Amino acid sequence: MDHIKELREDFVSRNLLGVSGLISRMIPPPPEGKAFLVGGIVRDLFCLVYGPPDLLDVDLCFTGDVSKWSTLIARQCSVEVTFEPRFKTARFWIRSGSRDLHMDIAMARSEVYENPGSLPIVTPATCKEDLGRRDFSINAMAWPLEEAGYCRESLVDPFGGRSDIRSGVLRILHKNSFRDDPTRLFRGFRLLSRLSFQWETETQALVEEAIFEKNILLVSGARIRKEFVRVFLEKDPVDVLKRIYVSGLMEALVPKARWSEVLESSLMEAVSLSRMIFGGETSSLLPLQWASIKEWCHGETFFYLAILKGLQEEDLVRAIKALGLVGKTGLILKEAILDPSAFSRREMQPVDFLRLVCRHLLDAGLLYGPMACEARTDGQRHFLAMLSVRSGKNRKEAFLSGEDLIGMGIPPGKRVGEILRDVEDGVREGRITSREEALHWVRKESLRS
Ligand code: CTP
Repeated sequence: MDHIKELREDFVSRNLLGVSGLISRMIPPPPEGKAFLVGGIVRDLFCLVYGPPDLLDVDLCFTGDVSKWSTLIARQCSVEVTFEPRFKTARFWIRSGSRDLHMDIAMARSEVYENPGSLPIVTPATCKEDLGRRDFSINAMAWPLEEAGYCRESLVDPFGGRSDIRSGVLRILHKNSFRDDPTRLFRGFRLLSRLSFQWETETQALVEEAIFEKNILLVSGARIRKEFVRVFLEKDPVDVLKRIYVSGLMEALVPKARWSEVLESSLMEAVSLSRMIFGGETSSLLPLQWASIKEWCHGETFFYLAILKGLQEEDLVRAIKALGLVGKTGLILKEAILDPSAFSRREMQPVDFLRLVCRHLLDAGLLYGPMACEARTDGQRHFLAMLSVRSGKNRKEAFLSGEDLIGMGIPPGKRVGEILRDVEDGVREGRITSREEALHWVRKESLRS
């Protein structure tokens, strides 16, 4: 290794040691087992050249009992931990200096996918085995949490992630990866755009094959919607969307989806509208009805308007379903796209006003050329981050209690907790907006299971 490379590796290792020391001081050590920093945080420290890592999200992989450790953390740090029994993960927010840091502890596990696009069956595993179930080599590196001294060799990197970062390529770990979990295609396009990487040659061929096979249609709408929200939250969502369109992935979900300059302008407009509304900036275009607007509309609505406009009813309904746009968001989109002038009929209420904004967006592609929309700035990330769908911090009312569920005939036990968490997710994602909708959802769910 030449001298500069060596210095750089030392620098990264010291940073990893620093971060791992910081985390170890924030939470109590596990009573048993070994914990590792893993995934994005390790990758981002190696990618320093692409900008400083945000250190807002820390993933740990843990070889012991996650439930025991998370109980200890909850008690000693006075944080509210959400434990998810199926995959044995614990999530919580913890104060770090002047801001909150999101921590995710997952049991080290191996995964078996019974069907393409389904959720995996998991079994406990070693850290190395856990890295083998991951998406890309650059995300499959780990660093021990409580390693005392500095040692460059502490990095666990069984798939050559470090070398792929040096070469700027994105490589999957085995040839069934996209078949097992087609959402990795979205993850890949986000990373390519964010890091300016390229697919590794064999991976590129498998991407094309996976898109051609349309396995993405086997993934639930709710999961697809989460992937799109993550795309909208990227620093340059328009660039990521362009890649998704040009690759043909978008067409699998939205009939006749084609990339065009008009669409690009509309999407840029969506970015700046979300920014105006969710950042609370005043503008001659938007009167001061922010609070009501936010009630009615997640920032994602603006992107979907740009994406779906022009579709005829049958294609639109199909696309809305495939994209998981259920509930109020789906209704508003359908109404605004099929009848964009509906807002002018009544005295202007918040929902009418929202339609006005939608109308503006529908026209945006024609009104503004790409040059007029130099809208993609770093600040937008902040505004987009306020999209309420993603906010795990602002817990909303779940409309139901455990007693309600038991009253509906669901036996007391862990299933009650699971259902309540699902309802909470539904509320956060806008799929459930009232107690009636929550009850309806539970009835359907218990019939299904
Ligand atoms: N992961 C995976 N396959 C998925 C989702 C996640 O293999 N479908 C693994 C990856 O190793 C990833 C880690 O889980 O690095 C954490 O996932 P997540 O927090 O979603 O992403 P990050 O890699 O941290 O990336 P980002 O910077 O986009 O948050």
